[in-house]
Amino acid sequence: MKRLPLSYIFLFLFAGNMIGQTVPADKKWWKEAIIYQIYPRSFKDSDGDGIGDLKGIISKLDYIKKLGIDVVWLNPIYSSPNDDNGYDVSDYRNIMRDFGTMADFDSMITGMHKRGIKLVMDLVVNHSSDEHEWFKQSRSSRTNPYRDYYHWWDAERGNPSPRYSLFDINHDAWRYDSVTNAWYLHYFSRKQPDLNWENPKLRQEVYDIMKFWADKGIDGFRLDAFGFAAKDTSFPVFPAGYEKNFMLYYAMGPHLHEYLKEMNNQVFSKYDVMSVAEGAGNTFEDAHNLVDADRRELNMAYAFEGIDIAKPEGYSLLHFKEVFSRWDSAFERIGWLAIVLSNHDQARMVSRFGNDQPQFRALSSKMLSTFLMTMRGTPYYYNGDELGMTNSEFRNIHDFRDMPALNEFQHLIDIHGDTSAYLKKLRLQGRDNGRTPFQWDSSANAGFTTGIPWIAVNPNYKMINAEVEEKDPNSCLHYFRKLVNLRKNNPALVYGSYHLLDKNNPSVYAYTRENNGVKFLILLNFSPNKAQTNIGIPLTGAKLLLSNDHRAPDSPVMSLSPYEACIYQLQ
Ligand code: GLC
Repeated sequence: MKRLPLSYIFLFLFAGNMIGQTVPADKKWWKEAIIYQIYPRSFKDSDGDGIGDLKGIISKLDYIKKLGIDVVWLNPIYSSPNDDNGYDVSDYRNIMRDFGTMADFDSMITGMHKRGIKLVMDLVVNHSSDEHEWFKQSRSSRTNPYRDYYHWWDAERGNPSPRYSLFDINHDAWRYDSVTNAWYLHYFSRKQPDLNWENPKLRQEVYDIMKFWADKGIDGFRLDAFGFAAKDTSFPVFPAGYEKNFMLYYAMGPHLHEYLKEMNNQVFSKYDVMSVAEGAGNTFEDAHNLVDADRRELNMAYAFEGIDIAKPEGYSLLHFKEVFSRWDSAFERIGWLAIVLSNHDQARMVSRFGNDQPQFRALSSKMLSTFLMTMRGTPYYYNGDELGMTNSEFRNIHDFRDMPALNEFQHLIDIHGDTSAYLKKLRLQGRDNGRTPFQWDSSANAGFTTGIPWIAVNPNYKMINAEVEEKDPNSCLHYFRKLVNLRKNNPALVYGSYHLLDKNNPSVYAYTRENNGVKFLILLNFSPNKAQTNIGIPLTGAKLLLSNDHRAPDSPVMSLSPYEACIYQLQ
């Protein structure tokens, strides 16, 4: 991967508001934010239909406020037939019936702002739903004014060159439509036709939609699958086997930067909103070109290399350290990163990166949270991780709800493939693991709903839930709040430089964060065994600020218990 020259001068201002430490001149609220991601379908149901909703979120705003976070990112809440849980939008200016009404939205955002919480919305415009009015028009005739809002390939041109679909049952991204004797393109499911970003009218429609929401007061956009939006509409033939590495062919299409600049010019620059796209291209150069401030495109890079490290067979901490250190160094002076280990497309953080065995679950979950809150970049924290929620128990395929998972299972049946191996993989890696209902208390259905939940509650909810953890001062929940407080009050943890220590230690991740003489040492044992670290820097006056394991202030700094995490302030 190519690194850009690091030629950026940091200016420092003295700001009195953060414990007398200094903060850089390019201080931004979205750099200091901790973004809490809410999966609305699974957060809190207010009306007993088994599906989370906006009134449910409203009822939990005080819980969210108490976490100390200051930004919420909400997965899509627009009208949708829910082929892909809202990532198939049928009306971008309306609220999904399951989730409530626009009046509910207005009270939700008012309630958030009253509490000092900002709102980032998901913008799904690589594709729409096939039930969107644009698509209904588009498919109705070849001369319809909306025809070019989507990608069509007329049958008389012969077969289009193959395109891989991530979600289609046959992985074929072209779907034949007899109404006009043509194929349409869908990188995701058949019900998610790709929008044609090469059409200026479509782009204008999207900017108008964005202004509609910005005028309603939202504070940012997360652009879903946007790396795929720009396409070479001649649809050239890709080399054999391209689908094994389709990102190289799909991401960062021809005019993507122009479109982002146009979007920035029309929308982002007119409001105080933050912007982040899912994915950051294929190289550091791509990522920088998307987010370096002087280019006026997006604010921060949400890259996948880190989150993708955990595999069903495990991962190596040396690899983990190498990846996060490499990304940090590429963004040391220009650009800004998202720090993330989990989201709604992944199994649970503690099950993937930590250890969800009862004796280690809370410890390793706190250790991972310590990592997220002490790295440079904006942490994205997935709802439920603050409780140490784990992967669930899925007995058979009927317990799963995720459309691509069900499609792939059916596909394997059709081709006589290995469905039991796939089921095993789904249990460990399936997206539904991260989508089970939020565990509020020990009552029926974890207090999520009074009805039948759309997906089963994790059977461990009586032990792991917000009510139980609220009462236990040693819980993941209390620890998370302490971490948030520490980050919020220390600009060194936001803006400070990062130095990796004891690089070759296979069990311990050790690093410092430093800003203008204020220095923190972070020690994280990623293993279930005791571990030693040799950090090779003076520890004079080391003061223990936080520990996940009752560490005594005078215990030897170099020895760590299983999954121990601690933060020291150094002189
Ligand atoms: C993104 C979303 C994912 C969705 C897909 C299609 O990757 O995060 O949940 O299924 O886009 O919209």
